[in-house]
Amino acid sequence: MASIGQIIFYSMIILIVLFSVLIILLLALAFSDSSSEVTSTNTLPIANLGEDIVLSCYLNVKIELAKLREASVTWEKKGLTGVVHRYVDGADELADQNSQFKRRTKVFPEALGTGNASLLLRDVRKSDAGEYTCRMSSSEGKGTVNINLRAAAFTAPKFKFTKGVLVAEASRWFPKPNVTWSDEAGNVLNGSTSFKPNSAGIYKVVSMLQPVNISDTYTCRIENELVSAVSKATVTDTNIFGRTYFTFSAASSLLTSMYLSTLTIIIYICYLT
Ligand SMILES: *[C@@H]1O[C@H](CO)[C@@H](O)[C@H](O)[C@H]1NC(C)=O
Ligand SMILES: *[C@@H]1O[C@H](CO)[C@@H](O)[C@H](O)[C@H]1NC(C)=O
Repeated sequence: MASIGQIIFYSMIILIVLFSVLIILLLALAFSDSSSEVTSTNTLPIANLGEDIVLSCYLNVKIELAKLREASVTWEKKGLTGVVHRYVDGADELADQNSQFKRRTKVFPEALGTGNASLLLRDVRKSDAGEYTCRMSSSEGKGTVNINLRAAAFTAPKFKFTKGVLVAEASRWFPKPNVTWSDEAGNVLNGSTSFKPNSAGIYKVVSMLQPVNISDTYTCRIENELVSAVSKATVTDTNIFGRTYFTFSAASSLLTSMYLSTLTIIIYICYLT
């Protein structure tokens, strides 16, 4: 007969082995593309249209001490002629830059010296979505990494409460999202939502919920295939307390339902008067 102590001991051993296997698998995944010494913190970024985004690309070797010599970087976009951005011999080299990117790109020369070849892309447009290649070469190593930029528009909804109707209003969403309401118990509630596209095809979302009980908390979920905004709105006699969590799809086309992490938390209070 095994004693309780022995059972706990062997359970711990099994758990430790399981966790080790898991960690090894994760490490193997992380380093599976070891042929390239260039990598990215996010190969599936989602840009908010009209805002700036940094496409991450850096040399994956320990270079805390090393200063790179002869570092050059070329950013290209699949299907476009010319470059998105090129930096060679300590200067931008933009003679064959595609006109779509004129005056909207920048690398960080100070950071490039430590192996960071990230690209700043300003004022993102729908046409910027697509596959980018960062090609870096330096005294310490070289390689390429592909980055698939997706373009979306997303804003946290603002809440109003008038005449027994809870209204969530979000000014910019793209692609067209779905809106669902639920109560604290998770029951789906019957909201009514309107979508008004502007000339750029970006939707203003207005969703109304009634009836609404004072001091209850309601969840409003606005989501499309790229971004999900989950807001919790608590109605009180004098104000509405709302908070919104964004999650971004890390999905390739095969894994459309996976969300990587909550990147942004927006907390705001919307007063009635
Ligand atoms: C690279 O530099 C950019 C711009 O300064 C910064 O946003 C990013 O976090 C850096 N990435 C790494 C991996 O150091
Ligand atoms: C849902 O709400 C709409 C208007 O807000 C109303 O016309 C409809 O009857 C409601 N449906 C149910 C099942 O309550």
